[in-house]
Amino acid sequence: PMITLRQLLDHAAENGYGVPAFNINNMEQGLSVMKAAEATNSPVILQASRGARAYANDAVLAGLIMGLSKAFPEIPLCMHLDHGNGLETCATAIQNSFTSVMMDGSLKADGKTPADYAYNADITRRVTEMAHACGVSVEGELGVLGSLETGMGDKEDGHGAEGKLSEDQLLTDPDEAVRFVEETGVDALAIAMGTSHGAYKFTRKPDGEILAMHVIEEIHRRLPNTHLVMHGSSSVPEELQQIINAHGGDIRPTWGVPVEEIQRGIRHGVRKVNIDTDNRLAMTAAIRTVFAEKPSEFDPRAYLKPAMAAMQKICEARFEAFGTAGNA
Ligand code: G3H
Ligand code: 13P
Ligand code: NA
Ligand code: ZN
Repeated sequence: PMITLRQLLDHAAENGYGVPAFNINNMEQGLSVMKAAEATNSPVILQASRGARAYANDAVLAGLIMGLSKAFPEIPLCMHLDHGNGLETCATAIQNSFTSVMMDGSLKADGKTPADYAYNADITRRVTEMAHACGVSVEGELGVLGSLETGMGDKEDGHGAEGKLSEDQLLTDPDEAVRFVEETGVDALAIAMGTSHGAYKFTRKPDGEILAMHVIEEIHRRLPNTHLVMHGSSSVPEELQQIINAHGGDIRPTWGVPVEEIQRGIRHGVRKVNIDTDNRLAMTAAIRTVFAEKPSEFDPRAYLKPAMAAMQKICEARFEAFGTAGNA
């Protein structure tokens, strides 16, 4: 059945687990997540970005979600808008059967200019009033994603803040977080603590200097009843980097967020964990392998089936690691 983010994360909080939110753009990614959920008996958050909606078409996406929910009737399914940038994007998502929306007011509507507190709180409060009137949940974001190593936002991946950011912007302020949750009424709060989107998050295995998990612990102490969200939470497995590079790919050496750091976050109020890059890498590794080993194949199913199997494997591992498994 379709459920809201609030319903799912309330259950996760009561039972002390986290839920991976997997980005999808197409049927293959949707099926991979649902098969992993069925295999591990896990509830699901599927999320679509504005880019995904433009890629797949809203009507097609809406049909896909309905189809997935029908094909896997036992799996609780939340359909979430990732990084909404204004009232209209959130409203049209709701019209197209999303049960949850993110209003990311940490950036202006252009998706690259850091916004001030007043802008963020105002637009997020207005989206929350509208969404709650429709029975839909809202995720807000306070603080800007970007690297504590370089001070750069993740614009290089096509979205996120442009240019140099201060440590003030890169780390969510606990006092502001308390005020923001009160003033906006959001169901979940995304916070910034040094992660960024995409494959190139850290130039070394992250420690407390560049991945500020202590910020999560402090915010959870101040807001024990607020569901926290970690963005940019792919682990960027070295094994996948190697498979891609061994088959003609070009991924520079890089580190992601270690699964044990996410588990630590889950012990401190993190309930939603956003993952896209790991699944992109898994599918790409599988497809590159088929192309290299079976150059005569040209039926898309010959490479999309292994791609789905590879994505399903990542999703199952995250459902198990975050304690989602067994909670459907
Ligand atoms: O926000 C980041 C997600 O990975 C979605 O990426 O905007 O390329 O679909 P996208
Ligand atoms: P990754 O790029 O680390 O997978 O993060 C995805 C994300 O935060 C989507 O909102
Ligand atoms: Na989101
Ligand atoms: Zn994100």
